[in-house]
Amino acid sequence: MLKLFETETLSLDKLTDEQTAIKVKDFSVWLNNSLVLNKINMRIPKNKITAMIGQSGCGKSTLLSSFNRMNELNQKYAFSGEVELDGRDIYNKKENVAKLRTKVGMVFQRPNPFPMSIYENVCFGLRIQGKTERRMLDDIVETSLRNAALWDEVKGRLFDSALLLSGGQQQRLVIARALALKPEILLLDEPTSALDPLTTLHIEELINQLKKTTTVVIVTHNMQQAARVSDYSVFLHQGELIEYSDSDSLFTMPAKKQTEDYITGRYG
Ligand SMILES: Nc1ncnc2c1ncn2[C@@H]1O[C@H](COP(=O)(O)OP(=O)(O)OP(=O)(O)O)[C@@H](O)[C@H]1O
Ligand SMILES: [Mg+2]
Repeated sequence: MLKLFETETLSLDKLTDEQTAIKVKDFSVWLNNSLVLNKINMRIPKNKITAMIGQSGCGKSTLLSSFNRMNELNQKYAFSGEVELDGRDIYNKKENVAKLRTKVGMVFQRPNPFPMSIYENVCFGLRIQGKTERRMLDDIVETSLRNAALWDEVKGRLFDSALLLSGGQQQRLVIARALALKPEILLLDEPTSALDPLTTLHIEELINQLKKTTTVVIVTHNMQQAARVSDYSVFLHQGELIEYSDSDSLFTMPAKKQTEDYITGRYG
């Protein structure tokens, strides 16, 4: 398989705690009393790109949003098991959830720009952190928008409402908003679903650049994208983790028949 970016591969079974960004232990989720994730166990490697694939409704977004506790905004949410970051279960009662979400940034499946200007969207989190120095904010807004491949389209109208942007522009804006906070872990739920091939390639290059400093977990329905950008891939089916390995193996010689059926398009 042709890889866009070469990278050193670690064996997932032998990951040490230092090499692990997120440790998921027997993690189950119920939404509205129905089981959506069933005892998931996995370690997500630090400063690597991990893709999550699987049929619509298999639980990808649910698992992704478990990594920064975005799930529990849903009142019908129940879980068991643990999600560990830096050796600490993030579901412990004393967890500072606001701090956790700064460290673990997320771009949602549906772009959710705030009803304010493009500029204020990007520096929203920085303002919450009490950062007000104009030159610094200007710099971060520009860099984040450039990295998200949006700067050239919006530099002349930074103070217009973000709600006037097209769907694909909104998608890049929320990527810029997440980048502005320099998260240690970045969760991306189908970040390029509304983008054209060239802009998609730009975002994929950005994701690869981020790897130097950031752990990236990306949900994608695009198998070529998963194979191109990710170091590791996990295949979920009806709330179960079916297969998790380095992406080359998963896409060229899947160990399970279900994985093979999915990646060859026999279902889903
Ligand atoms: N608020 C909710 N109440 C009840 N069930 C829910 C709720 N949100 C999601 N679900 C169900 O949980 C399951 C997993 O949903 P999830 O959004 O994680 O799937 P997904 O793999 O991200 O799918 P897609 O590829 O379509 O985005 C689905 O069956 C979905 O219908
Ligand atoms: Mg989803």
